Amino acid sequence: MYLTKEEEKLLYSENQTIRKSMEILVALGEIFGADRLVKIKSVQISGISYQNIGDAGLEWFESLRGKFAVRAMLNPAGMDLERWKEMGIDEGFYRKQLRIVKALVNLGAEPTLTCTPYYFDPPSSGDHVAWAESNAVVYANSILGARTNRESGISALAAGIIGKTPNYGFHLDENRRPTVLVEVKTEMKSEAMISMLGYELGEKLSNEVPYFRFEDKIPQDWLKGLAASLAAKGNTALFHVENQTPEWNSFPVNYLEKIEVEKVGGEESETFKCDPDLIALGCPHLSERELENLFDLVKNRGKVKKDFWVFTSKEIIKKRADLVEKLEKHGVKVFGDTCMVVSPATENYECVMVNSGKALTYLPKLRKVDVRFGSMKECVEVAFV
Ligand code: F3S
Repeated sequence: MYLTKEEEKLLYSENQTIRKSMEILVALGEIFGADRLVKIKSVQISGISYQNIGDAGLEWFESLRGKFAVRAMLNPAGMDLERWKEMGIDEGFYRKQLRIVKALVNLGAEPTLTCTPYYFDPPSSGDHVAWAESNAVVYANSILGARTNRESGISALAAGIIGKTPNYGFHLDENRRPTVLVEVKTEMKSEAMISMLGYELGEKLSNEVPYFRFEDKIPQDWLKGLAASLAAKGNTALFHVENQTPEWNSFPVNYLEKIEVEKVGGEESETFKCDPDLIALGCPHLSERELENLFDLVKNRGKVKKDFWVFTSKEIIKKRADLVEKLEKHGVKVFGDTCMVVSPATENYECVMVNSGKALTYLPKLRKVDVRFGSMKECVEVAFV
């Protein structure tokens, strides 16, 4: 991989964090055949929950020195930094999680603590970024037309320190070409249905760039759910949607192998039917519009009968404090900085109802809970009975 004189100097920097970051980028570039480094606009760093990285990860973050060269945003942590007690998080966990966030903030990261950095700082079409959270990667590539590979927390951090990433994979035009046509011949009736579509196709479409043809226009919030479940079940980093996404007509598709989908919600989905003691929405973190939709469903009802947690960014919580207050009057708790999957708090429950194919994939494995699946509307109905 070609390095400029300036980049070469960074490989021999006295600052160990810079030197190691450069070594990581060069190693990645060489493994994947990058020709050079490309400047990026921002990074999004995942894997920062103390639950996932433990003391070794905490100590590593605290050993880093220097400053990010570009805007650095953080993925959710293991708790709401303010309302951690309400979530049932113990003080020991709280203190360690706080140290992780502080270590990254000391490097210049913004404690956005959200997996929807695209609501916070959306890159423009063609911008290069290095984002790590998988739904954010698919959203940036597919819905915004920006360019990022599926970074790990470490490679995103290294890219942030240097302000560049190796130019390979989805940074290059040739890899953004669709590889399979998915013709969906059934109407998408809810956000949960399209999320289930991603759940069911994720493994089959792993390592593909699917080109979706739907019968109707799909709301952007629903495409977010599709992005998340595809990426959770497989390695998808980019898809195109006919007549909708920015690059849909950049490549010919008539030569592609075709998958036809006649039905969504197969036999496996029938098994997600436990009796929930927690309803959890916001995987990925809810948008303002989704928060409004939720309030519309809740507003004519009394108090929730089951624990009902909603996850979004602190940015949206501050901006829509009015809506949050109204939802909380109905007993719905709106948490920021975390989610039902990365927080150990979910382990205090037995069956969690979700409307997300991504949560469906990870909750049983990571939080050891049973899951029930339904749309936001169905979740609300179950919560108030
Ligand atoms: Fe986000 Fe947590 Fe889901 S990080 S995409 S809400 S698993």
